[in-house]
Amino acid sequence: MYGLVNRAVEQLVEQHLGPTGWARVCKQAGIADDGFVAISAYPDQMTYKLVGAVSQEMGMSPEQVLEAFGEYWIMYTAEEGYADLLQTAGTSLREFLGNLDQMHSRIETVFAQMVAPVFSVEDEGPGRYVLLYQSQREGLAPMVVGLVKGLAKRFDQPIAIEQLPSRAGFAGVFRIQEA
Ligand code: HEM
Repeated sequence: MYGLVNRAVEQLVEQHLGPTGWARVCKQAGIADDGFVAISAYPDQMTYKLVGAVSQEMGMSPEQVLEAFGEYWIMYTAEEGYADLLQTAGTSLREFLGNLDQMHSRIETVFAQMVAPVFSVEDEGPGRYVLLYQSQREGLAPMVVGLVKGLAKRFDQPIAIEQLPSRAGFAGVFRIQEA
């Protein structure tokens, strides 16, 4: 994945464990501690190894790490020059989720080799909808839970999110109920 993702992992770890904690994570993951270039593509395996090492270092499951990372990503991208992109993608959580693919495709000019996820939304009733997630990658559904929680905070919209049994061809199906 693009270095921007790995850099966000680095920032999150440094916030909790400081630079020495990050150095330990890199050592454990077998990755050089010399920084990532945001707009360079790195092997996905590197990101998965980092998540594994953070999980060990912080005593959290890899799923918990991914969820925390997803939530953090919303704040991180807003501070790293993507605030306008977030701003124009919607004025409510529901609207934003419906525009996720368009939002990712707008940054394909910067991240040309990006393998973006695909999202769709099915409305079930007032303030209640299902988010469908398709991905070329394995195991990132917990990150989507964190991303939605981070977005809900951004919109000051209390929600409950539950992961439903997946459907064929999807990497994750989530029901969101606005409070
Ligand atoms: C301005 C904000 C955002 C930026 C700049 C951004 C950018 C990116 C980038 C660069 C990747 C890595 C793709 C690759 O290296 O192939 C990625 C992946 C991903 N993004 Fe976004 N993104 C943003 C917001 C969001 C939001 C709000 C969601 C909410 C659901 C989201 C969901 C994902 C997921 C799930 C992946 C993992 C890819 C996969 O499943 O294969 N992103 N994004």
